[in-house]
Amino acid sequence: TFLGIDLGTSGLRALLVDEAGVAIGSTERHYDVLHPHPGWSEQAPSDWIAALEGAVDELHAKYPRFADLKGIGVAGQMHGATLLDKSGDVLRPCILWNDTRSHRQAARLDAADQVRALSGNIVFPGFTAPKLEWVRENEPEVFDKVAKVLLPAAYLNYYLTGDFVADMSDSAGTSWLEVGGRDWSDRLLEAGHMRRDQMPRLVEGAEAAGTLRPDLARKWGLAATVTVAGGAGDNAAAACGIGALNEGQGFVSLGTSGVLLSARDGYRPAPETALHTFCHAIPGRWYQMGVMLSATDSINWLAGITGEKPAGLTAHLGEDLQSPGPVRFLPYLSGERTPYNDAEIRGSFTGLAAGMTRQDLARAVLEGVAFGLRDSFEALVATDARLVELMAIGGGTASRYWVRLIATVLGVPLALPSSGEFGAALGAARLGMTAATGVSPESVMLTPQIRETIDPVESLRGAFDDAYLAFRAAYPAIKAIQ
Ligand code: XUL
Repeated sequence: TFLGIDLGTSGLRALLVDEAGVAIGSTERHYDVLHPHPGWSEQAPSDWIAALEGAVDELHAKYPRFADLKGIGVAGQMHGATLLDKSGDVLRPCILWNDTRSHRQAARLDAADQVRALSGNIVFPGFTAPKLEWVRENEPEVFDKVAKVLLPAAYLNYYLTGDFVADMSDSAGTSWLEVGGRDWSDRLLEAGHMRRDQMPRLVEGAEAAGTLRPDLARKWGLAATVTVAGGAGDNAAAACGIGALNEGQGFVSLGTSGVLLSARDGYRPAPETALHTFCHAIPGRWYQMGVMLSATDSINWLAGITGEKPAGLTAHLGEDLQSPGPVRFLPYLSGERTPYNDAEIRGSFTGLAAGMTRQDLARAVLEGVAFGLRDSFEALVATDARLVELMAIGGGTASRYWVRLIATVLGVPLALPSSGEFGAALGAARLGMTAATGVSPESVMLTPQIRETIDPVESLRGAFDDAYLAFRAAYPAIKAIQ
């Protein structure tokens, strides 16, 4: 059997699959994101380990086949900076992907000579290099002790194997990697005041990073040697989970962040579009994606402040798509990446009227997130990505209304995988399988069965195009007064 771990922002998911890649069982553990200051977003790596141990204990107790484990793959929330001292101890809480404190450092690095050319991307505040610049400037006593910087997935690899190993897809989001050449870049490291010896060893996601520590293997009741794969950033892993390896294959992900991802047939960076161009978890492949920072985070926020559940807030909408509502929501609760690269912009509602309810706001939130994804769609189309049909994944797809709305706003049919496993945890398990057995990634990373394809509502496309234009016009206007 093989174990896929998805180290997410709100929790950790562990999935056990059999030799055919079919799910045997899964479990989840949740943990918190801390916001000690506005714009900050942190997590204690010890919470991840506790979640991992709890999840594995459960799988071990429930499924006898856990004892046959051969391979593990870890997918992680991207970009987080886990700082270790020379004994391998964590120096401070991990600074997460949606933390925007380092926007000044990011802008400075982004403007530095050769940085965009080598990294293939804008240096976004959420990326890792500017975080280390922030630590250097604001916590010099911590910076001086940094012996290794690990992304969240690489930190779990370290816990599992005892070695410092990271995969290409996740490392591509650091701004220290030469994304075209798939290696740490001396120039990028120098720009960020880092050294090669502070970086983990690089492997491809589908290759072995090491083997499970003997003491963990004993504790988990495992007799044979277990291979730990390089793993992947969660978006590359999700692409592996739905079999998006080739040009034209991609997905919309409605998670804490919103992602529109397309596998590409080569390395064609387009940093000026604010798209991300990263290594895939498979050798010799890359993908592109647009990222919005607050997707389900937006509706969860509204639910939190109104004391409702997200599903309760949107239940009144039913399943039939309605024309655009009168309220406009800009989903920039934590700033935005694609297309604006603006860490300081904040969200807004416009068009509020007496008599409106929380339901009107909820509808506006769903629409605002859909329009944010359209921004990424437009950017991808401008780089000649062929997006004919996309898969829809992530917690937000539980709302059919939302999926139909997004299909209509993008003008692209959205396929919903059959119930079962298909996300980053499955992608991670598949990486564990390829690393442990040596089978080809193409033979394992298959497209899931489709439960249903949700088509755009043609009669409403014009109205949503108009509403999208109004949404686009709102950003510069709001920006001017914030
Ligand atoms: C991608 C990004 C997010 C996280 C979510 O660049 O920052 O999608 O990977 O975990």
